[in-house]
Amino acid sequence: MTKSKLILGIESSCDDTAAAIVEGTSGNAVVRSSIVQGQNALHAAFGGVVPEIAARAHAERLDGCVAKALSEAHVALDDLDAIAVTAGPGLIGGVMSGVMLAKGLSAGTGKPLVGVNHLAGHALTPRLTDATPYPYLMLLVSGGHCQFLLVRSAQEFSRLGGTIDDAPGEAFDKTARLLGLPQPGGPAVETEALKGDATRFKLPRPLLDRAGCDMSFSGLKTALLRARDGVIAANSGLTRQDRADLCAGFQAAVVDVLAEKTRRALQVYLAETPAVPTLSIAGGVAANTAIRAALENVSAEFDVACTAPPLALCTDNAAMIAYTGLELFELGQRNDLSLGARPRWPLDTTSPAMLGSGKKGAKA
Ligand code: KG4
Ligand code: ZN
Repeated sequence: MTKSKLILGIESSCDDTAAAIVEGTSGNAVVRSSIVQGQNALHAAFGGVVPEIAARAHAERLDGCVAKALSEAHVALDDLDAIAVTAGPGLIGGVMSGVMLAKGLSAGTGKPLVGVNHLAGHALTPRLTDATPYPYLMLLVSGGHCQFLLVRSAQEFSRLGGTIDDAPGEAFDKTARLLGLPQPGGPAVETEALKGDATRFKLPRPLLDRAGCDMSFSGLKTALLRARDGVIAANSGLTRQDRADLCAGFQAAVVDVLAEKTRRALQVYLAETPAVPTLSIAGGVAANTAIRAALENVSAEFDVACTAPPLALCTDNAAMIAYTGLELFELGQRNDLSLGARPRWPLDTTSPAMLGSGKKGAKA
């Protein structure tokens, strides 16, 4: 039997400073502690994450975060089997802060260092929360990411498609801004959409006419802007109902695009005849009830289980980095002090690099 491991995870690739302790083996691990310190207040005045401010905040807070994760788990540095750290992709100053700390800890304690891809962390979360067997299909949808990943192991991923411009969360946030709703936009738009008529505004379903699983959400946002301006020009303003109808129309378009692209991704995935066919959705947008329901329906059409990790493990955290580090450690990965911080780091090096860069930096 494989010996249980105790892994410290460190995450600082965007605007969450995080540290966690995970214990167990591949496909059978528990979170002993997970500390996440967000930076929303630091960036609120700027309408997006400011990389320099984020990097400084990470540098100031990381050691305290690690100390808290260790103490909540009642673990000493000496007890650890390895130190896992996000080495990319992300905002480079933040990634460097985490990597430097991890290297320092590794050099000081002699504990092995494991560099982890942040996207692999998201992609492996269903292994931590549900022990989902490989291979499974992952749809990662957040403010910074949007891609379909066929996950075969902690080291083997195929990207079946992704957004060529904005991530859906970004589009929700921009829609909210255009309609005078609060940030983050997703929950606000979802609430308004419940009161609206999704058929009143004919918004586009971008890239549905194109084969494959790539998506685009920036044209949808422009279409929404035009529809809004059309109403304002005709009626000298927006009523509450106009706003609700615009939200409903926008959300319905996102739902249709995600549902159809998921159908296509499932077809590719099922060709691998997985033993336990599973679609897992992760990222902040997975909190959307309409999107979740649509993806559950599509999965049911194909007789595929549909799971979503709890929200706290769907959004950025260090438990996913510790867990991914655990699997990589079991596979023999060891990094030395030459471990670098990478702004871009595609999981699937055989697919062409993705275009654009979201509000949270490089998408990989
Ligand atoms: O994963 P996350 O917390 O952070 C990253 O982007 O990495 O995702 C945040 C995004 C925001 O854009 C937010 O508007 C969106 O997830 N979001 C939602 C909902 N809740 C959060 N989008 C649609 N519907 C929701 N209920
Ligand atoms: Zn993330």
